[in-house]
Amino acid sequence: MSELTKEEMYEDIRRWKKEKNAVILAHYYQIGDIQDIADYVGDSLALAQTAAKTDADIIVFCGVHFMAETAKLLSPNKKVLLPVMEAGCVMANMMDEAKIKKYREDHPDTVILMYVNSTAACKQYADVCVTSSNAMKIIDHYSKQGKPMLYGPDKNLGAYAMTKSNVKLDLWPGFCGIHNGLKPEVVDEMKAKYPNAEFIAHPECNLNVLAKADYIGSTKQLIEYVTKSDKKEFIIGTEGGVIHAMEKKNPDKKFYLLSDRLNCFEMKLTRLYDLWRVLRDEDNVIEIPEDLAKRAVKCVDKMLELS
Ligand code: 13P
Ligand code: SF4
Repeated sequence: MSELTKEEMYEDIRRWKKEKNAVILAHYYQIGDIQDIADYVGDSLALAQTAAKTDADIIVFCGVHFMAETAKLLSPNKKVLLPVMEAGCVMANMMDEAKIKKYREDHPDTVILMYVNSTAACKQYADVCVTSSNAMKIIDHYSKQGKPMLYGPDKNLGAYAMTKSNVKLDLWPGFCGIHNGLKPEVVDEMKAKYPNAEFIAHPECNLNVLAKADYIGSTKQLIEYVTKSDKKEFIIGTEGGVIHAMEKKNPDKKFYLLSDRLNCFEMKLTRLYDLWRVLRDEDNVIEIPEDLAKRAVKCVDKMLELS
């Protein structure tokens, strides 16, 4: 571990960024020290869009593996670095490549809508990718084709989409271990404790919890919502990292995390030292076999076209 202070690491990171023409992308679930030094902090969609158009030579992706992989799909000629290679996503791991391949073979006419929280190996069997920001728009678009549709791996976002529009989706039985386990009674307790607060939640929460929400959206949409709102207090039903960005933009407002369990272990594996080290050493390079990448990028490109 480095003996350097935060400021010393920041100084090196800024210098190496310039020397190497690197850009740092960070998801809102990353620790505050990383969000503060990143060039772009965003939700899955915004980060994918940024990765697609950057002219940097190196993309350092502070997030989890599928996010860095998506950046590599969209920028195949750039070096994409993931500070901690083991940082995965529990939900992405709930879709097995052999199973989705078999599903594709058994259901050739089904439109496969793939949540971006999935591996490139699984994405190659999808028609289109979605994120929590654009899921409704893309599902509505495909529903007009009148074909059967599979949504996965997040059964909760899929179930939520079905309550919002008149579509029928076959749901893959995956979920986020952080969001899915929340109980509606906890929302009641927090609302009783903070009677002036609105409850806002991510669609990866289960329907019983979402039913109690005043607003539902992606991480970016939640941050925008609290920033625009006249309300002063909010109970947050998503991973606690978003509170850093919410507080920065809204120093006069109060944010209460719904539950201590809203802490994604995988996202929090990345420390400032890991970012500093990976930019120095340029290891932890994301590699995707070319033929797989060519197949997997199609559903991501389709998503960006429809977003
Ligand atoms: P967003 O697309 O809302 O940033 O969500 C990503 C994620 O992993 C939520 O758990
Ligand atoms: Fe995956 Fe859940 Fe962590 Fe998001 S919060 S990265 S879905 S494990």
